[in-house]
Amino acid sequence: MTSIDTTQVQHHAISVLRENDRGSYTVPTKGLYPFQWNWDSCFTAIGQAHYDIDRAWTEMETLFAHQWADGMVPHIIFHVEDDGYFPGADVWRSGKAVPTSGITQPPVAGFALERLLQKSGADEAARSRAEGLIGAIDRWHEWFYACRDPRGEGLVAIIHPWESGRDNSIDWDEAFARVPTEGVAPYTRRDTQHADPAHRPTKEQYDRYLWLVQHFRDLAWDNTKLHDASPFQIVDPGFNAILVRSCDALANVAAQLGHIEIAARNRALAQKGREALERLWSDRHGQYLCLDRTTGQLIDSPSIGGILTVFAGIPRARAAAICATIEKEESKARFIVPSHSVFDSRFDAKRYWRGPVWLVVNYMIASGLEASGQTAMARRIIASSLELIALSGFAEYYDPIDGEALGGKTFTWTAAVVLEFIAHQDAQ
Ligand code: GLC
Repeated sequence: MTSIDTTQVQHHAISVLRENDRGSYTVPTKGLYPFQWNWDSCFTAIGQAHYDIDRAWTEMETLFAHQWADGMVPHIIFHVEDDGYFPGADVWRSGKAVPTSGITQPPVAGFALERLLQKSGADEAARSRAEGLIGAIDRWHEWFYACRDPRGEGLVAIIHPWESGRDNSIDWDEAFARVPTEGVAPYTRRDTQHADPAHRPTKEQYDRYLWLVQHFRDLAWDNTKLHDASPFQIVDPGFNAILVRSCDALANVAAQLGHIEIAARNRALAQKGREALERLWSDRHGQYLCLDRTTGQLIDSPSIGGILTVFAGIPRARAAAICATIEKEESKARFIVPSHSVFDSRFDAKRYWRGPVWLVVNYMIASGLEASGQTAMARRIIASSLELIALSGFAEYYDPIDGEALGGKTFTWTAAVVLEFIAHQDAQ
C-alpha cells in the first residue's frame, strides 16, 4: 500500500483546480480539452466548494448561462477559439452566440447543486445562488424526459456515445456499428496529438461519431426530431441513475427553498426512473446492462455503467449483488473499479472507457454504496482511488492492473473528487 500524505494531496488537488481555472469556467485539462465540459464543470464546482464556494457557484452559473432555449444543457461550451480540439465549433454549427456543441452529457447538476448548498451551510447568499439554478436544472430534467424518453418509459436514451460521458465504451460497439460512415467530410483529429493513439478511439469509430453530428446538424439540432431520427438510441443505466439522483437532489433543494411544485415533479420523475431501471437488471452479470432501444434488446456488455447505477438509490439487495460483482473484479484488478469487466475478453486496460479506472465514476459509486449501507466497499473504493493518486498523480484515467497514469495529466475532475474523498475519510 502506497502511503498518502493527505494534506499534501489536498494542496496539490487545489493547485490542479487553480491551474485549469479560466476565471468563470474551468477546463478539464490544458491542451487536450481547452473548453468547458458539462459534467466536468459540475464535479469541478463540488471540488471548488472545498476552498472557494463563491467560485464554485460561478462554475455552475457559467454552465447554465449557455442552456439552450429548449432546456438542453450542451456538452461543450466553446468560450474561446482553439484549433487544438476537434470537432470544434465550426463542425457543430449550433448557431449560438457563444458556440456550443449540440448534444448533452450526464446531468450531474442537480446533485452538484445539493452538494454546494450543503457545503455552504445554506446561508442567505448560498440560498440566493441556489435559487438562480433551481428553475434551470428543472427545465433540463423536463427536457430529458420530453426529448429523450418520447414514449414516457421513465428511461432516457443517449443518441451519441459522447452524451454518455463514457465515450468509447464497449457498450456502444454493436449499435454503433450500424451507424453509417458515408458522406463524412474529411477531417483531422487532434486528440491523438495530445494522447497516445493506442489509448484513443479508432478512425472508424471517429467517422461514425462525425456521421451522427452531421446528421443532427442537418436536422437543425431540433430536439423534437433527433431522438427518433437517430440510428443510435441507447438506454444507459449509469446515465439514467445520474438523472434519477439529480431529480431527487433537486427535489430536496426545491423543497428546502419552498418550490413545492418543482420538488413534487422531480420526486415523481426519480421514483418512476428508479422503478424503470429494474428492467435493465441482469442476474447473470450481477449488475444492470444497457438497452438498445432500436432493437429492444439488453446489451451483453458488463461495464461500469451498470455498476454506477447504485448512484440512483437502488434496492438494497441489488446494491449487495453489485458489491459482490465489484469484489470479483477486485480479485483480478489491483485498482477498482475498472470501466469494463476484467473477465470480459474485450477488456482493454489502457484504452479509454474500455477498462481503465475513472475517479469521478468511483466517487459516484462510493456515494451510492454508502447510501445503501455498503460502507465497507465504499471505503475500499475510496482507498483504491487515493492509492492511484499517490502512485500516479492526478491523471484523466488509470490502468486498473498496474495503476499507470493515462490520458491527460493534471486533470480537473480527478482533483475535485479527491478533495471529496479526503473530506470523507477525515469525517470517519
Ligand atoms: C472525455 C470523456 C468525457 C469528459 C471529457 C472531458 O471526452 O469521455 O466524459 O467529459 O473527456 O473531461
